[in-house]
Amino acid sequence: MGMKRIYCDISATTPLDPQISEFLIDLNKHIYGNPSSIHREGQAAKAVIEKSRRQLANALSSNPEEIIFTSSGSESNNMILKGVLNPGDHFITSSYEHPAILKVLPFLESKNISATIVNPDKNGLILPSDIEENINANTRLISIMWVNNELGTINPISEIGSIARKRNILFHSDAVQALGKIYINVAETPVDFLSMSAHKLYGPKGIGALYKRRGSKLEPLIHGGGQEQSLRASTENIGGIAGFGMAAELSTSKLEENTDHILRLESYFLNLLNEQNISYTINGTKRIPGVFNITFHGVNGQDLVLQLDFSGIGISFGSACTSGTVKASEMLLEMGITKEDALSTVRISFGKIHQLKDVKKVADSIGEILQNSVKELA
Ligand SMILES: Cc1ncc(COP(=O)(O)O)c(C=O)c1O
Repeated sequence: MGMKRIYCDISATTPLDPQISEFLIDLNKHIYGNPSSIHREGQAAKAVIEKSRRQLANALSSNPEEIIFTSSGSESNNMILKGVLNPGDHFITSSYEHPAILKVLPFLESKNISATIVNPDKNGLILPSDIEENINANTRLISIMWVNNELGTINPISEIGSIARKRNILFHSDAVQALGKIYINVAETPVDFLSMSAHKLYGPKGIGALYKRRGSKLEPLIHGGGQEQSLRASTENIGGIAGFGMAAELSTSKLEENTDHILRLESYFLNLLNEQNISYTINGTKRIPGVFNITFHGVNGQDLVLQLDFSGIGISFGSACTSGTVKASEMLLEMGITKEDALSTVRISFGKIHQLKDVKKVADSIGEILQNSVKELA
């Protein structure tokens, strides 16, 4: 492999926690029964699923029966939109949701479901007043992400949820970037549905979940067997589910410790940039720790990503779903950032896996690359 890589794209996905990896190697050897079977092998598998459901419920302060396992955050998002909305309904969401929300809109429209899309403000937040203004008599569902994936900004979910509840409108939040990063408590938050995904919190890929408040109605996306209260047919991904439960427990029990650590990395990183007199702007306020949507003025963001990659550091240009393009982020333009600045913006995300020395290497490498690009221009 050669040079040790420093992976700073925690918002795109995380490596599997070594503790979860160990646990799953053992589990996959011994647990193979079909959870729907009544024999011992089946019941052992069933017990693994139910344990994980309790772990996830504990992480959210929900009841275990309010947790439904799915294959991903994308599936959870699709399931809520397609399973709640009916022809004639109106739906409110934001322009900077994940494609697993936004790309559902044309499908909904073909079913005579209309949508209003609100933009983030200059700080990268969705204003509750913007939601409220767009409610009409047919509004059935509002969906606003808890934490934005490109910026790491934390939306006022309680306020938006209260508005929805007051008007008898269902409220969904894509919490894929929030779970394990900030405190979530559905007992205290007026939210009817949440989408979650294990791979953003050091769990396995290809396993997701949704929280569905007791009593709220939802149609399945995948019809078939009676698994997951007949809401999600198919023989369960036992290893994935087990890994998700463990990831949820680890991240919530260590939330404070991890947050403190990542905040230390953050301030160290910014100090190092300042010491080198690097000109930058961090976009978005009220951010989760460790996520920097950062503009390096006058620098081509795509070039910076490539040059850092060559130096052994992985960061991204925009979110993973839009990177690979050289277009300016629509979201940044909507926030009022100039096209030039948007093209000079990258996302660097640090997490619990990083140490101060990793952060130093990243800051030093950025400094070197910027100095060289200045020399080239001179
Ligand atoms: C905010 C948000 N929602 C949904 C998803 C999709 O999750 P998954 O990759 O599990 O489908 C992601 C990440 O990819 C995300 O960042």
